[in-house]
Amino acid sequence: MLHDARVIVEAASRITCFSGAGLSAPSGVGTFRDPVGGWWTKHDPMKLASPEGFAEDPQLVMDWYAERRRQIGHAEPNAGHRALAARTDIIEVTQNTDDLLQRAGCHDVIQVHGDISADRCHASCGHVVSIDLRDPPGLRPCPCGCADLRPSVVWFGEGLVAETWNRAEQACTRCDLLLVVGTGATVYPAAGLITMAREHGARIIVINTNPSEASGIADIELTGSADEVLPPLLA
Ligand code: APR
Repeated sequence: MLHDARVIVEAASRITCFSGAGLSAPSGVGTFRDPVGGWWTKHDPMKLASPEGFAEDPQLVMDWYAERRRQIGHAEPNAGHRALAARTDIIEVTQNTDDLLQRAGCHDVIQVHGDISADRCHASCGHVVSIDLRDPPGLRPCPCGCADLRPSVVWFGEGLVAETWNRAEQACTRCDLLLVVGTGATVYPAAGLITMAREHGARIIVINTNPSEASGIADIELTGSADEVLPPLLA
């Protein structure tokens, strides 16, 4: 199976990687829906990752983000991140808001769900500020005075940033091979990028420890951990 996948990788001329929480899981960063340790198996996502949740209890939301930020800040990129970064020809589209692909050496990562390393105004003044993941800030007002600062990520019920989404669409509709790494492929519109790539003629290789919603569309499914499968696949 790995041999067949390598043949497809070697024949491809434009590769895009679409990743999710499973890529960072071997670094010790929690996934969302894994039965053991997934954030959404312990917490209600609408309380922690929605505008309604932030309106109801902003302190609770910022405390949860502080916990995740510290976890990411103390994590290191794994062999999967490094294997992707070594292939500078691969375009990175990720649902992950962490900075592990960048710390592995990727220069241009299309983060469709935003960037947990920054806070932004919850109103529309446009203020964005980088934060220290290892020493995350608490709840505080935006300098504009109109609203509090909140993580610069996309919450449930919010639209994706149009420019970022357009770049993700381009990367997935213009590739001839899409690697789908460590995602349950259940959250839309992001998961729709896989179908889009297929409709535009791309081959699909799925890498996941378990079957996922992307299994049915895969040309090849490699079952295993991203940090163990990506290095031999991309070497
Ligand atoms: N290697 C490969 N795959 C793995 C690994 C691993 N070491 N560990 C877990 N996985 C797989 C799981 O089998 C699962 O299919 O990663 C997937 C994780 O799924 P989710 O937790 O649903 O994460 P993701 O698909 O990235 O979630 C999408 O949901 O809450 C939102 O905004 C959040 O971007 C996130 C979106």
